Amino acid sequence: MKILKQAVKDEVAAALAKAGAEGDLGNLLGPATVEEHGDLAIPCHSLAPSLKRSPVEIAESITSVLSPSLSGIAEVSAVSGFVNIKADSAWLAARLSELLPDERLGVLIENPRVAAVDYSSPNVAKEMHVGHLRSTVIGDAIVRMMMHKGHTVHRENHVGDWGTPFGMLIEHLLDLGEDNAADELGMGDLDGFYKQARAKFNKDEMFVERSRNRVVMLQGGDEETLRLWRVLVDESMRYFNEVYGMLGVLLTNDDIMGESNYHHLLPEVVSRLENLEMLEDSDGAKVVYPGGWVNREGDPLPLIIQKADGGYNYATTDLACIIDRVERLGCNDLLYVVGAPQSQHFKMVFEVAKQAGLIDGSHNVNHIKFGSVLDSDGKILKSREGEAIKLVDLLNESVVRAEQAIAQRNPSINPKQRADIARAIGIGAVKYADLSTERTKDYIFDWDRMLSFDGNTSPYLQYAHARICSIFRRSDVSRPLRDDIPFIIEHAEEALLARRLVNFSAMVDESLHTYSPHRLCTYLHSVASAFASFYESCPVLSTGDDEIRMSRLALCDLTARTLSSGLTLLGIDCPEQM
Ligand code: ARG
Repeated sequence: MKILKQAVKDEVAAALAKAGAEGDLGNLLGPATVEEHGDLAIPCHSLAPSLKRSPVEIAESITSVLSPSLSGIAEVSAVSGFVNIKADSAWLAARLSELLPDERLGVLIENPRVAAVDYSSPNVAKEMHVGHLRSTVIGDAIVRMMMHKGHTVHRENHVGDWGTPFGMLIEHLLDLGEDNAADELGMGDLDGFYKQARAKFNKDEMFVERSRNRVVMLQGGDEETLRLWRVLVDESMRYFNEVYGMLGVLLTNDDIMGESNYHHLLPEVVSRLENLEMLEDSDGAKVVYPGGWVNREGDPLPLIIQKADGGYNYATTDLACIIDRVERLGCNDLLYVVGAPQSQHFKMVFEVAKQAGLIDGSHNVNHIKFGSVLDSDGKILKSREGEAIKLVDLLNESVVRAEQAIAQRNPSINPKQRADIARAIGIGAVKYADLSTERTKDYIFDWDRMLSFDGNTSPYLQYAHARICSIFRRSDVSRPLRDDIPFIIEHAEEALLARRLVNFSAMVDESLHTYSPHRLCTYLHSVASAFASFYESCPVLSTGDDEIRMSRLALCDLTARTLSSGLTLLGIDCPEQM
């Protein structure tokens, strides 16, 4: 518990010094491994050799010094060579009283940074796949946390909207007729469109020739070609925006910074690398050898900057992007929420950027990678036909399933309300399933699990929140509550809930520092389950004692606010009724 550590660290340092154990307090004083034993622990085993006493004796002597000095903050006990420190009720109550009037629930604003978060980034005229879904959902949660901490965040949707395939796509658009093609794309049949174009490209030489010419016209800025290209981009974006709208993410058209936006900077990338004498020739292509990477044959692996035909690469655009984000936007943080398969690409790009002086030690450059979404057989999630799953279909299905679940649980609810709640639950469930798994791991897409009202799921958290809202509806107390309600922490269940609630800000910080939304999820689940035990053993409205009733209502209020703030940071809605 970070805030307890903060409160006791001076006394602990003094007690250690008194015991003759000067050392690295930061390493010695850590979270207790068993929650029942305490909030913090000092394992004394590492001190035994230098103090020439047994860990048990050391723990006992530290405890005897520490106990009186921590009275009113924590209870201290020595157990098998550990000093356990457990926040006491009065201290917990005092922390809760600080949180009650604080809209931010203890979350501080600190050292504002300027960040570019590159996320979602689907490709024009191609279906957004579940990888783009992960990027969108994880990226959005990170953006929300950063904004909440007071950082300036540039959301950058690095849409794949440029490159050689566009010659082929534009020619296919012309073959289909603009209106038909626009219909197909706008309806989200992006994969069909792409595949037809690809099929023609693979067997029709005339088509290949036309496509090549078209790329040249596109690169050369031919007006009619650019207009056709815009049709492709706009129709695809219409579909992507539909997905964003359903997901309720922050991304808007203002955040689109597709590859085409960096076009003008590509020659600049080449000339800067050239001036630094970093470019080498490889069969006519201009490449950089950052060193440290080899291919299967063991030869050094280059980053290709400009191909022999003059065309540029994905990596060149990413270098241009760095120039733009650092020099135009003034970013300190360059964050890329992209799947793990692009790991080597980013490592090489970052290395070249460093060598070329585009970034230095003051920049935090991070590939926030994530694993794949798998089906129940452990294969990459696909539709029944083996195609990329259409995200709109997936999200719709989740809402339908949620609606069925609500109809069963709460048949009296009116249809309009049911539809709204179904959206919150259905979309929340998909997002939460994604966010609650450790980012770098693959996860199995499982409807029953993600929509379950039990376990580490969003319906469980949403339900805990809605349940508290209903307690207040049945009470004569309205929210926000008075600021000065005294907390009375007597029962173990009250204490457990309290110690979890006071941890919110530390958990938000930890989740953000590690770019790991799943930590916030695990924490929120621990709050909701502590609430369930509390509510089972500590009557709230029916308790006879007025002061206890108010204290428990205040615990309910803080729980609900913690859950809804946490879910909001994850981009998940939190209905008041379910
Ligand atoms: N459009 C790419 C893809 O679908 C992702 C782009 C990620 N961002 C970047 N700056 N490279 O794989």
